[in-house]
Amino acid sequence: MKILVTGGLGYIGSHVTVLLLENGHEVISIDNLHNSSLKVLDGIEAICGKKPLFEAYDVRNVDQMNSLFESHLDIDGVIHFAAYKAVSESVEKPLKYYENNIGGLIQILEHVTEKSIPFIFSSSCTVYGQADKMPIDEEMPLKKASSPYGNSKQIGEQLIMDCCAINKQFNAILLRYFNPIGAHASRKIGEFPKGIPQNLIPFLTQTVIGIRETLKVYGADYDTPDGTCIRDYIHVIDLAQAHIESLEYLISSKNIENCEVFNVGTGRGVSVMEVIKTFEKVTGEKVPYAMSSPREGDIVTAYANPEKIFKKIGWKSKLTLEDSLLSAWNWEKELQRNT
Ligand code: NAD
Ligand code: WQD
Repeated sequence: MKILVTGGLGYIGSHVTVLLLENGHEVISIDNLHNSSLKVLDGIEAICGKKPLFEAYDVRNVDQMNSLFESHLDIDGVIHFAAYKAVSESVEKPLKYYENNIGGLIQILEHVTEKSIPFIFSSSCTVYGQADKMPIDEEMPLKKASSPYGNSKQIGEQLIMDCCAINKQFNAILLRYFNPIGAHASRKIGEFPKGIPQNLIPFLTQTVIGIRETLKVYGADYDTPDGTCIRDYIHVIDLAQAHIESLEYLISSKNIENCEVFNVGTGRGVSVMEVIKTFEKVTGEKVPYAMSSPREGDIVTAYANPEKIFKKIGWKSKLTLEDSLLSAWNWEKELQRNT
């Protein structure tokens, strides 16, 4: 199959590209390099022995998108990752987020809906907000988004549902990722956080390697078994595999509805303290951490019910928290070696 991956040099897009190439698919990768680098192509080649066809295109650029879809009339599927994802920045610069995340999506939808090309969208567990019960299933009502980033995902989902409603030949899957972590076992690709990481795992690994002084544990008195927040951390390789299986499911027309929504998580809720202790156990390193006040806007607990994607598509996570944390640590060491 010939698959277009937008945001293909980003954290998740690069791992999906590797699996697509390893599965014998042809990949067209586009990325405007806002949050990535051309070096990622070398990492992909080092793993797969080949690179995707790459264009430094911006999904908002009408001419570039027209030219892309005109030059490739035989695209079998599109996986759309290209977006901005920094939650706190989205609060400071809401228009930047709406313009890119919604504007870019509309450009892509113009083409995929016209040609009815199977489409996979990167959504997020953030659309649920603080859900009323755990685990979270896809039927739970979406709460008002707590950031423009989260709202851009809710609006994005709605845009796709509206397109599916008027064009029954157009098939889409919305994947709501829980917390993706870890890196490829080869240490050739991983996450490149720019500036000070906001997410737990890159902050933790940067602290252990000595770039940051102390990891602040945001909130120690929550109503959870150890007082710290609970999340569903999913290995990026498992997440990437969910895209491959979702795409194959759509392309082989196994879907019943033309727009289907799936959680992608492990189903296991893990606290911040459990992450720290597990990291220390698998790496033998000490994590310098300190209890701190809660982070504004944080939800307390979020973990997935991943039954639906297992029943319909057959995907379930295979890798453990230990695998994820070890791969994140190996990647951090690799980054250090190369700087
Ligand atoms: P990332 O920033 O590493 O990757 C996104 C890529 O898209 C980057 O390489 C960036 O340069 C590119 N990009 C951004 N705007 C673009 C544009 N207008 N045109 C072309 N390229 C553009 O992020 P990621 O972690 O790989 O996330 C991928 C997708 O998954 C995003 O849509 C994100 O919102 C979503 N998501 C991520 C997480 C997470 O925790 N990483 C969780 C849930 C959902
Ligand atoms: C995880 C836990 C923090 C940093 C974010 C986005 C969400 C989605 C997934 C894209 C929380 C705690 C963190 C630190 C800490 N992304 N923490 N010290 O908040 O679940 O969600 O990523 O769609 O939209 O908001 O992930 O990694 O930031 O935090 O104690 O320095 O770690 O309080 O409990 P989060 P995270």
